[in-house]
Amino acid sequence: MDGNGRWAKRRFMPRFFGHKQGVDALVRTVLACADRGIEYVTVFAFSSENWKRPTEEVSGLMGLVLVAVTKYLAKLVGQGVRIRIVGDRSQVSEKLRDAWQQAESSTSHNTRITLSVAFNYGGRWDIVQACRRAIEDGVSAHELDEAKLNSYMALSHAPDPDLFIRTGGEVRISNFLLWQAAYSELVFSDCLWPEFSDAELDAALAEFARRDRRFGAVNSNAPSALSNLANGAHGP
Ligand code: FPP
Repeated sequence: MDGNGRWAKRRFMPRFFGHKQGVDALVRTVLACADRGIEYVTVFAFSSENWKRPTEEVSGLMGLVLVAVTKYLAKLVGQGVRIRIVGDRSQVSEKLRDAWQQAESSTSHNTRITLSVAFNYGGRWDIVQACRRAIEDGVSAHELDEAKLNSYMALSHAPDPDLFIRTGGEVRISNFLLWQAAYSELVFSDCLWPEFSDAELDAALAEFARRDRRFGAVNSNAPSALSNLANGAHGP
């Protein structure tokens, strides 16, 4: 969800204003995905590296999450959204941990779409924490394979992403979903996140539908949930 700061700056507003609009764009986009039958969406809300930002921006983002949970939770519950938080919770305040807990528990019964919010998350952190937990569980070198390690990853509740969208014009992954995005189709958009619209989402889905996915083979376009949708099979 890149581009909040620039979006605000262009309007002579503080960066925080961009993040605030970014939350609205997030809710809008998750519901647009649900309407299109997409069952899993994962967003990068705060990276392990975002602590390097000015203190006031960091605390503004933390506060914004609390406000967002209060403002949108009931709506998301009503729309069938299941919320999962992925990332290192040990460094965030107890208040924030409680808000995450409330968001997860009050949406745990929902099945229409799973929104995973990556917060204090990094792809490398995830790989390391998964290895660490596997070792703690006594998993032997012999037992360890991709499926086993995946079961320890923060996103083990979700399938690997078919489509990876980055807004804001940068063409890099920035430590997001390093393990899970091994075969994701990457789409980079110049659109700044607060302006991400249904039309932008549909353009990314159309781009995805044009891709030839071979997963290392010569000509298998192996079907996935998203490719079925992109090829006209309608979701719920
Ligand atoms: C990147 O834009 C955006 C972020 C680091 C924060 C994204 C967070 C939100 C949209 C709010 C999350 C809230 C909830 C409830 C999950 P940037 O600041 O790097 O923008 P720039 O590249 O234009 O400076």
